[in-house]
Amino acid sequence: MRVKFFVMVVLTAIFFIIGIAVASENQGAEKINFDGGNKGAIDFPHHLHQVAIGDCNACHSSFPKVEGAIKDLKEQKKLKKKQVMNETCIQCHKAKKKAGEKTGPTKCSACHVN
Ligand code: HEC
Ligand code: HEC
Ligand code: HEC
Repeated sequence: MRVKFFVMVVLTAIFFIIGIAVASENQGAEKINFDGGNKGAIDFPHHLHQVAIGDCNACHSSFPKVEGAIKDLKEQKKLKKKQVMNETCIQCHKAKKKAGEKTGPTKCSACHVN
């Protein structure tokens, strides 16, 4: 009996800690304005995407959850210019459009707003 109780207390504690860790993960800024090269900066609605997509890795599999990550990786030549734009942003917007779902822009000026 005692052992079972102890195991239950420990398991409850573990789940509680995991719960807090997940809930308190840094969600990043609601809106992020980042560098879009000579085409002009991008005003990116970050939280809107978190809600619409649900999966952080839809984007963060190609760059970490760190401010300035895309710029840094491009400078280190680990990402090509326009790679995130084409393979992540525009790819998803096109796929959703094709599927007839709610989507984001594919026109240059809709993302590069300065
Ligand atoms: C649609 C793409 C996309 C999705 C989905 C996404 N993010 Fe981000 N996230 C970005 C971009 C773009 C940046 C800015 C990177 C940069 O500055 O180079 C960023 C930056 C961040 C940062 C760094 C702080 C900041 O505000 O710049 C954190 C933390 C972060 N994201 C957390 C998350 C979490 C947690 C999720 C899932 C719940 C998530 N993101 C989903 C695109 C996304
Ligand atoms: C869905 C949003 C979106 C659309 C639409 C879009 N871009 Fe981008 N663009 C980005 C993002 C995000 C970056 C920065 C990340 C990267 O370089 O992949 C970027 C970066 C760039 C860069 C800078 C590359 C560098 O490193 O110097 C150029 C130039 C550019 N875009 C041109 C264009 C042109 C031209 C169009 C229209 C044909 C266009 N973009 C449409 C999001 C977009
Ligand atoms: C996995 C799919 C997916 C990816 C990746 C993605 N988007 Fe989107 N985007 C969406 C969807 C879905 C919407 C429409 C959301 C809504 O209106 O509820 C949207 C909307 C937008 C809008 C319009 C927001 C508004 O207020 O109408 C912009 C700007 C945008 N995305 C930029 C970007 C940029 C820049 C990136 C890359 C860093 C990106 N998106 C990556 C799915 C995606």
